Parts: sequence; C-alpha cells; structure tokens
Amino acid sequence: MQVYLVGGAVRDELLGRPVSERDWVVVGATPEEMERLGYRPVGREFPVFLHPQSKEEYALARLERKTGAGYRGFVTEFSPQVSLEQDLMRRDLTINAMARSAEGTLIDPYGGREDLQRRQLRHVSAAFVEDPVRVLRVARFAARFAGLNFQIAPATLALMRTMVVDGEVAALVPERVWREMERALTEAAPEAFFETLHDCGALPVVLPELHWNTSDREALRAAVRLAPDGSVRFAALMARTAPPMIETLCERLRVPNPYRELALLCARLKERIQDAAGSDAAGLLELLESADAFRRPERFHRLLLACSAAAPTVDAPDAQSLLRAAATVAGGVSLASAHMEGLQGAQIATALRAARIQSLAHFQSERRKS
Ligand code: CTP
Repeated sequence: MQVYLVGGAVRDELLGRPVSERDWVVVGATPEEMERLGYRPVGREFPVFLHPQSKEEYALARLERKTGAGYRGFVTEFSPQVSLEQDLMRRDLTINAMARSAEGTLIDPYGGREDLQRRQLRHVSAAFVEDPVRVLRVARFAARFAGLNFQIAPATLALMRTMVVDGEVAALVPERVWREMERALTEAAPEAFFETLHDCGALPVVLPELHWNTSDREALRAAVRLAPDGSVRFAALMARTAPPMIETLCERLRVPNPYRELALLCARLKERIQDAAGSDAAGLLELLESADAFRRPERFHRLLLACSAAAPTVDAPDAQSLLRAAATVAGGVSLASAHMEGLQGAQIATALRAARIQSLAHFQSERRKS
C-alpha cells in the first residue's frame, strides 16, 4: 500500500502558509489491512481511519457517484484498485487536488500548482457540481485568499451559477451554511465570501435576509479592521437588518447564541450608542442597562466594536471611549451600608440607579470641562 499527503496540507505548504491539519490517502489497501495495522476506523459513510499514534486521518482512495439531491446523495466506491488520480479527480478545486508521496514527490494531475501560481480557484472536473457545499467552500477560499489576489475561474463561477439554477444550492442543510459562513467570517476578507455568493446567485437562496448592499460591505470591512472575532463581524454585517429578520436567519441556520445576541443588540442599540454623547446621565444609564454592560462587560466591549464598525462615518471611537468610561464609572458605584439601612430589594435598586445617575452626571460635567 502507498500513503500520500493530500488536500489542504499540500496546498498550504506550496503557498508557504502554516499547515493546520494533515489528511492522508491510502492506495492499495483494504479496511481489514488498515485495522490489522492498528488504524482505528471512524468513517461512517466511507472508510476513514485514525493513525494509532498521530491520530491524523487516513482515508482509503475512493470514487464518489451522485445518486440524489443534496450533499448526502452519494454512493462511494472504494477498493484497492482505486488509483490516487481517481481519488484526486473527485475533489473540488485543482489547488486542493494535489498529493505528496512519502518520498516527497508532488503528484499534480490536474494543474493545481499552476493554478496556485496563477492565483486561480478552478474546479477539477464536471463532478464539482455534485456537491453543493462546494459553492460555499469556493466562496470561503475566496475570502481566505483574496489578499493573495486569487480569482475564481470563470468556468467555475459558471458551474456555481448552474448549481443555483438547478436547485442544488437550495438543498444545502442550514447547519452547513452556517459552518462555512462562520469560518468565512474569521478569514482575511470575509466580504469576498458574500460577494462570491452574490455573484453566482446563491446569496438570496442561502441568506435571503441579507441585503448585501454597499453599507453592509463597508460595515463588514470596518469590523475586519477592528476585530478578529467572528461575532463582531457578524453583528456589524447584520446591523442594518431588521431584528425580526435577524431572528429568522439565526433560527433557520441555528446560529449559536453569542452571535445571535450580539447581532440583535447591535441592530437595536446602534443609533443610541452612536449618539451616546448627546444623552443625559439617565439616558446613558438606561443605555448601559439595555446593553447589560455591568453584567456582561466583555460582550459590551464587542458590542461597541460592532456598532462602531456599523457606522464607519460617525465619530465612533469617541462614542466608544465615552461609553467604556461611563460603564466603568457607573459600574463602580456601590451603596454605602448607611445608605441601605431599612431599604428593601426594589428600593435598593432604585437607590443604586440614583447613585449611578449622579455619578454619571458628575462624569459628564468633568468630561465637558476637559
Ligand atoms: N474536499 C472536496 N469537496 C468537499 C470537501 C472537501 O473535494 N466538499 C476535498 C478537498 O480536496 C479538500 C479535502 O477534501 O482539500 C479536505 O477537506 P477539508 O479538510 O474540509 O478542507 P481543506 O481543503 O483542508 O481546507 P481547510 O484549510 O479549510 O481545512
């Protein structure tokens, strides 16, 4: 049997990027042989094994045939006769369809290295259309490699359009859409993910709630400059979408709570946050309370970043620093025990609010003086 390093690791090594995960293909072996050698079977739909020591994935070379709609509509064929070239041919992009032998030889039957040099994201074969996840993957790779000037080959974009028209993209399971989108959000140029989906017509199918207009684009770009965090970027992107639409999108895609909460807060509070300088002390406190700034300071920090990205033209750093300082001032207020004597629960809360408002009023007047 022969073992080859394949996929992303070969691509990233040629690009001089760090390799995060190594996948291997085994040619000329049977599942029984693999188990005899101590590999642990983990694949449910096709034979994949974990190496006994490294725990890296070793898949038997396989062919895939489409049998129905959606990404589960496949049958796979594997046997010791399936060649490396056949296995590489069923893959999505030429840059992901290269292999390296144990001796270090590059096996590149579909021109992956040349496409890396020419900065092209190009499909390997017509079998590309058999897996709609690939539309999302190409968009995600566009987001990752935009800074390196990668472009999608026109023929590949045309295939992606066909997959939208044929209804393949509509068959994507929502979790998969979110998984790819979440990864795309933390890439160097996440706007290229949405731009690509827009260009091939998939955006209204997978994310009908998103307008993807110039303001959305600018907000996302601004968020990328401010934070590596995907939730900040997501919130900035969704900030101009009506909250009920954000709820619908998050429900459908099963977007995790930290993303959902931040996006909703940002959409609801962004104007008030941007105009914070014009609020009186009671208004400031009410805003801090609405944002749950005292109990969730870390989320409040992300909220301020998302809101300032959502309005790149407003003097956002000013509103941010004001609110950060205000949260510290009001959050630091506590009632002296003499003050609380004889007060019940609700009365304590009222007294604390009054003390906070007083300290915020003082803070504002000091700020005005300086
Ligand atoms: N692959 C594919 N079609 C898919 C998913 C994966 O052809 N829908 C192939 C590609 O050859 C890919 C390899 O399987 O390189 C491994 O997939 P995965 O680990 O998901 O992606 P990577 O290309 O390694 O990318 P990443 O760096 O994002 O992990």
